[in-house]
Amino acid sequence: MSLFANEAPHGPPAARVAVPRAYANLVPKIVCHSAPDRFALLYRLLWRIQHGERQLLDNFADFDVARAIRYAKAVDKDVYRMQAYVRFAERTIDGTQVFTAWHEPQHRVLRLAAPFFVDRFSNMEWLIATPLGTAAWRGRVLSFGPPAARPAETGDAVLDELWTAYFRATFNPARLRVKAMVAQMPKRHWATMPETASISDMIKAAGSRVAKMGERAPESPPRFAERLAERMAAAPAQAPEPFSLDALREEMHSCKRCPLHGPATQAVPGEGAVGAEIMFVGEQPGDQEDLAGRPFMGPAGRVFNRALAEAGIERHKTYVTNAVKHFKFEPRGKRRVHMKPSGGEVTKCRFWLDREITIVKPKLVVALGATAVLGLTGRSVPVTKVRGRVTAAENLFILVTVHPSYLLRLPDKERVEAEYERFVADLRQAKAWCDAA
Ligand code: URA
Repeated sequence: MSLFANEAPHGPPAARVAVPRAYANLVPKIVCHSAPDRFALLYRLLWRIQHGERQLLDNFADFDVARAIRYAKAVDKDVYRMQAYVRFAERTIDGTQVFTAWHEPQHRVLRLAAPFFVDRFSNMEWLIATPLGTAAWRGRVLSFGPPAARPAETGDAVLDELWTAYFRATFNPARLRVKAMVAQMPKRHWATMPETASISDMIKAAGSRVAKMGERAPESPPRFAERLAERMAAAPAQAPEPFSLDALREEMHSCKRCPLHGPATQAVPGEGAVGAEIMFVGEQPGDQEDLAGRPFMGPAGRVFNRALAEAGIERHKTYVTNAVKHFKFEPRGKRRVHMKPSGGEVTKCRFWLDREITIVKPKLVVALGATAVLGLTGRSVPVTKVRGRVTAAENLFILVTVHPSYLLRLPDKERVEAEYERFVADLRQAKAWCDAA
């Protein structure tokens, strides 16, 4: 029992305040932002919500809401960067093997990012030090400590060498895109990433390496591979997330996460550029897409292209992908008849869709039909219920509309025309929202 159990609490009892879920989801992120006005912003939003603006957070045109979302996104990005760019160096302290890392985040994201390292490295003792605080995992307990000073030396030579070897081994000079590389891996983090020391050499040598690759016969694996394999078996796996669409596409081609890869010709990755403002998500590739390896090429693709043009959207400036990356079909004679993917298949494939979104970072995602909604949100929602307005789900802005093949299935011409017009109107709205955002 506490010594002070009989004492009355000081001050008035705290009032309970009910807030919309969207607000509750934003708070833990915004408080981590480094902007000095973050608490004032949260308080202002709360005050407005409590004084009659219950739907305030649905109004993305509102200045406070837009700012709050921008802060939350910046924090998400910083969490992702910490998870992708922390490099541990091995040390022995008091006879115990520990892994330490130095990282300089832009925002106070250590507490948000730390659970990821607990999941991945739960059997190790590790410490992540930052100028804003430290996180330590001592096998069972995660604890947070005060800020640390930047160490003079950040790497242990052995691990540095292994990271550099890994980075060199995965660097493909034929796919060199310097701008995209720097955008994904900001120079701020290079000091603690040993592999980056090789970047300028590799860029300089890229041209001649591409030529040599063409001439060279297959060779046996390099000697470091054996040591790397040993080391990886002993230490926790720290496979970095693919940070480019090229790397993602390459990985997708060997996807065996569900049985659909068996009968399909190939995985059909999304198409478009990093930074595209609008991302369209369809259901799955059809017969022609499966053969061509590109999304929305067949009959549904032609309707889609026509509607895009009418809405004033240039397809090559968008990113077009599907919730499921392999074609699911039933053979009937010579034909391969489309089959709807199951909930389980859509869920397995969210792995790829999530990564595409992380890399492309669209302002708005347009879900074409119910399977796309399921892939994006994990929820089965009738399209008619949510169609045509921008909603926020997990820090993603989504506009739901019908799938173009729905228009191809309608029985009478009048309905086709009316529904087509509604589809174009939804696309126009997507464009207008992005232009204003
Ligand atoms: N339907 C889709 O959902 N996606 C395609 O790529 C083609 C048809």
